[in-house]
Amino acid sequence: ARRENEKLRRLNEVACGFYQQMLLQKSVGGAAQQYLNTRGYGQKMAQAFQLGYAPDRWDALLTHLREKGLDIDPARRLGLVRPGKQGRGDYDLFRGRLIFPIFDHYGQVVAFGGRILSGDGAKYINSPESPIYHKSRVLYGLYRAKEAMRRSDMAIVVEGYFDVLAMHRAGITQAVATCGTALTLDHARLLKRYAQKLVLLFDQDQAGQTAALRAMEVALPEGLEVQIVNLAPGEDPDSFLAGAGREAFDNCLTRARPVLEWYMDRLLVAGSGVSEQARGVDEILQRIGLLPGEIERSLYLKQLAGRTGLAEDLLQRKLGELQRSRP
Ligand code: UTP
Ligand code: MN
Ligand code: MN
Ligand code: MN
Ligand code: MN
Repeated sequence: ARRENEKLRRLNEVACGFYQQMLLQKSVGGAAQQYLNTRGYGQKMAQAFQLGYAPDRWDALLTHLREKGLDIDPARRLGLVRPGKQGRGDYDLFRGRLIFPIFDHYGQVVAFGGRILSGDGAKYINSPESPIYHKSRVLYGLYRAKEAMRRSDMAIVVEGYFDVLAMHRAGITQAVATCGTALTLDHARLLKRYAQKLVLLFDQDQAGQTAALRAMEVALPEGLEVQIVNLAPGEDPDSFLAGAGREAFDNCLTRARPVLEWYMDRLLVAGSGVSEQARGVDEILQRIGLLPGEIERSLYLKQLAGRTGLAEDLLQRKLGELQRSRP
């Protein structure tokens, strides 16, 4: 199996090099280069992240592999090449897309993401899972971010490829992306190797807020110090940096808040009815119960008591009940 995986890794290397070359060739990758430039990313960023372009053909990678005399089978197992239906030939997965190689934390290419440049079709498609790619364990950009994470003791989690690029361009290099999946326990533990503080910087839309809630529940029990940053509605880090600029972005970053305080704000809405308030308090107690530290739990209980006017020992008792009723 180890030798098999080695083959898969080598094939990904070859594909990565091919896509990179294609981006640099003006006659092939010109439109993709133009696209990057329009979004404010130049040669330097493309090189740093080894961005590429998959030509808009059914067999560009296939032909390249054949010309190099390489076995197609690993490419099939990686999902880069797919079998045609009813005896038709194989075809490339990525066609006419800007390519983001996805590296694991050792710096090996394990998968790719591809963004459409124009026309219809999914905005992004990604390599499927394979023996060397488990998306629940890989964070985009980690290989380039881990030193800065160690230095600052802080990891910043964003949603998308371009968000990572935007943060790096702005000199904020401890950013990684979950790339459309929820933050998993494996992700949280991986990040904990590098930093104690976890900053959630998700898209300011419904999906991003839901992702933040779930990330909070995954990360708090791990003892990570979880904070959340909010940008203007509808924005993501890439769009906000491009539109509002670095200074406005820094202002948002400095207003990062402990995620539980943000959560309390959401649930303790002024003027809501008694049963709604009670439900909110219950939800908050459950999240406080996720904290591994007794002192921290106690400090948040005090905060909750202050904000609701409920007695601290009542909240303490309720929290105890909640924790006993959980396996
Ligand atoms: P978004 O929809 O927020 O896209 O998805 P984005 O990153 O802001 O993309 P741009 O700025 O329009 O180029 C966040 C992430 O979810 C994954 C991608 O990893 C994307 O970066 N995603 C999104 C997919 O895998 N497939 C999709 O069709 C859309
Ligand atoms: Mn898997
Ligand atoms: Mn989004
Ligand atoms: Mn986005
Ligand atoms: Mn975006």
